[in-house]
Amino acid sequence: MQLEDLVTIKSLENEAWEALEKTIMYYQGRPVGTVAALDGTVDALNYDQCFIRDFVSSGILFLIKGRTDIVRNFLEETLKLQPKENQLDAYKPGRGMIPASFKAVSLNGEEYLEADFGEHAIARVTPVDSCLWWMILLKAYVAATKDYSLAYQPDFQYGIKLIMELCLATRFDMYPTLLVPDGACMIDRRLGIYGHPLEIQSLFYAALRAARDLLICNGNQDIVNAIDNRLPVLRAHIRKHYWIDLARLNAIYRYKGEEYGKGAVNQFNIYVDSLPYYELDRWLPKTGGYLAGNVGPSQLDTRFFALGNLMAIISDLASEEQSQAIMNLIEKRWQDLVGDMPMKIVFPALENEEYRMITGCDPKNIPWSYHNGGNWPVLMWMLAAAAVKTNRICLAEKAIEIAQARLRDDEWPEYYDGKKGRLIGKQARKYQTWTIAGLLLAKELINNPSMLPLVSFEPFTAEQVSRACEFEIDSFDS
Ligand code: GLC
Repeated sequence: MQLEDLVTIKSLENEAWEALEKTIMYYQGRPVGTVAALDGTVDALNYDQCFIRDFVSSGILFLIKGRTDIVRNFLEETLKLQPKENQLDAYKPGRGMIPASFKAVSLNGEEYLEADFGEHAIARVTPVDSCLWWMILLKAYVAATKDYSLAYQPDFQYGIKLIMELCLATRFDMYPTLLVPDGACMIDRRLGIYGHPLEIQSLFYAALRAARDLLICNGNQDIVNAIDNRLPVLRAHIRKHYWIDLARLNAIYRYKGEEYGKGAVNQFNIYVDSLPYYELDRWLPKTGGYLAGNVGPSQLDTRFFALGNLMAIISDLASEEQSQAIMNLIEKRWQDLVGDMPMKIVFPALENEEYRMITGCDPKNIPWSYHNGGNWPVLMWMLAAAAVKTNRICLAEKAIEIAQARLRDDEWPEYYDGKKGRLIGKQARKYQTWTIAGLLLAKELINNPSMLPLVSFEPFTAEQVSRACEFEIDSFDS
């Protein structure tokens, strides 16, 4: 690299850091998070709040840079916002939830934190992912500081326990996956992702693994057992039923429907005509594959969702072969999945009647815009982490090069529109915090792969695998 280029990159990083510093939110004089965006040109709506999912990108970056205090404060304050009692009022957040976002407000000279559990959010969506991200960030904090004492504090142990109780509660359905309403995660608007969307399952798996590492067994034996039971079946279920590659597509293509009973091959009764199998036949590279967006009764959502697939690699939910195949797919379908800005949140977009029916004619989610096929720079750090985990660093380097050529000049937009991500998002905020942090964090992970364990999980140990195999055999053969 030329000296001139190096100087340009350094100045870009400095500017990004300066912009990030400005987003830090203070509460009672302590840094407790970052606001979602600092765009002075548009109505802030709730972008002046600290979103739990958005802060994870900045939080991990701060941890890498040794600024552990802000992450600790964030974890402590958000834990205080978690409801500890069962609510009689059905409109109130349930016990164990972590809010979508919060902000500091003053009343009569007293400062306090006001949380939004979705009760103020557009469409009143439930932030199921918040408690999962909170667990993931707590694990990152422990990995970075090598200090378990925060997680072992009684209030943290109780908070983890409540999150696990909420996630592992007995429900009506009998899948190991988590059943959630539409818009329960990063895609927090209606997009046909109700049921068992991949993003939630990947985060759920990572959160279960984090909780398993951090919960003290003494006094929590029931929950620890429940986690140990759930992890292997969830993993086996996703690896088997969500996986799509040419071999699976062939099997699905010849599925019969309406099979009753234990011997059913087409267990979810997928009607082949509901799948875009001609497109997939053309699109799927021989060596590529990915995890489907959603699986449920007569439903196989074949859209590629980036966050769910990348987090499945990072959390070890996808097998090693599957992880390589996902990276192969990204490499071979680079123009579709990365294009001119890493990376596409979902591919392909919903169009025409599907767009109208599924989004409810949402003008923000028109085809190839925002959640419906837009490109989101924040996903870059997950791409970088997945690339380090699978030893495919070149892919992340290429993505970073594309992003850093544009992001600063474009003033760090929240998202991009268009099939290739060439247009700055129609309603995108500028100076979006997780865009800035996404680039900086991706660079940190590539330059310093030893930081990967902050976010990633290793394959199960031999003992865990043998226990897991028993579960897999039990659950599929009986
Ligand atoms: C939008 C995104 C959501 C994000 C929030 C704040 O609502 O869909 O994922 O957390 O903005 O950036």
